[in-house]
Amino acid sequence: MSNVMRVGIIGGGLMGREAASAFGRWFVLEDFPVKAELVAVCDLQDKLLDWFRQVPTVKLLTKDHHELLRSADVDVVYVAVPHHLHAPIYLDVLAAGKDLLAEKPFGIDLAGARRIRDAASTSGRFVRCSSEFPFLPGAQRVVQAARSGKLGKLLEIRSCFWHASDLDPAKPVNWKRQVKTCGEIGVMGDLGMHVVHVPFRLGWNPKRVYAQLQKIYTQRPDGKGGMAECDTWDNAMLHCEVEVEGREVPMRLETKRMAPGATNTWSVEVLGTDGGVRYSTAEPKSLWVFERHKEQQWSRIELGFQTPFQTITGGIFEPGFPDCFLQMWAAYAAERAGALGDKFGCVTPDEAVRSHELFAAALRSHATKAAVAL
Ligand SMILES: NC(=O)c1ccc[n+]([C@@H]2O[C@H](COP(=O)([O-])OP(=O)(O)OC[C@H]3O[C@@H](n4cnc5c(N)ncnc54)[C@H](O)[C@@H]3O)[C@@H](O)[C@H]2O)c1
Repeated sequence: MSNVMRVGIIGGGLMGREAASAFGRWFVLEDFPVKAELVAVCDLQDKLLDWFRQVPTVKLLTKDHHELLRSADVDVVYVAVPHHLHAPIYLDVLAAGKDLLAEKPFGIDLAGARRIRDAASTSGRFVRCSSEFPFLPGAQRVVQAARSGKLGKLLEIRSCFWHASDLDPAKPVNWKRQVKTCGEIGVMGDLGMHVVHVPFRLGWNPKRVYAQLQKIYTQRPDGKGGMAECDTWDNAMLHCEVEVEGREVPMRLETKRMAPGATNTWSVEVLGTDGGVRYSTAEPKSLWVFERHKEQQWSRIELGFQTPFQTITGGIFEPGFPDCFLQMWAAYAAERAGALGDKFGCVTPDEAVRSHELFAAALRSHATKAAVAL
């Protein structure tokens, strides 16, 4: 395998451009075995294709993703399009013999996720799904603490991803607010992969789920003077049970579009009888650690820039979204090149399918008002 990963992007909107930004400053990674180069972009909108003209390595701009997939210059495809297009385009990527970094969710529903997972395994291509927050230094410290065995008997686990801009009823509708383009799982499809990645990787797989799902505003301005239907779930609280060392432990997974005051706030908390750990992007440098000695104590450790893949950035500087997104891409590139070692990896197709099994069970739980076994 060449040490240059040549990337094509399908879907050059919010996340497609974020990916371009990550490749544009790839050189900040120190002693990294793979270079990344953005070579081709597909989007339906002229103004977005024009935006990518400023990236000197881009040789192909197209509105037809089949044209991008025919290009011999593309090794890896990042697909960041509305959810109803995930399965068809991911399957096209695999059929074209390319590797894939899929945006979440992995298909619009469980059936789609299984089809993609099966095609990935038949094709032999390297496929992972997007989830970047675990690559923040604070999140990595939570993973280390959970694996250390020093927390004692686990009491509870909480993993959350909260937004708030939907609290404004004047916010216009978009494809993420409609079942036909976002999926029946709604906010779980949008935010759910972010809250399951760390628990799944730590082996905390729900055995049972009781779901509370909420739809708050059922209509929003359509941007043309009228109103449009808005039929996806806005908030989802999944009360789960996982088995840790032979005991059942409660785990709460929260995905919310309406969490007052929260702007892309991702957090994770693990509490045990001997210790605990808590991290939130609302305080990006703060790791909260609980210790039980003679006295009980929560203390705050001020973190710096100890990312999994070393960069030139000063060790005391603050990390943010573009940093963890670059780190996620570094994990993808390293694992694809067989150089991940013991570092944290991106969501695997099996984990992505498991997330859909959980979300499908959550829909059943909410419909029946009962806990559903997985
Ligand atoms: N990892 C994250 O933190 C994160 C954050 C936001 C969104 N996402 C995910 O990224 C994906 C895209 O979301 P977004 O916020 O970037 O949406 P967006 O609406 O900003 O961008 C989607 C783009 O896809 C393009 N598109 C639509 N159909 C296409 C087609 N057939 N061929 C090529 N391009 C097409 C649209 O023109 C648009 O530019 C979704 O799966 C979403 O869940 C991930």
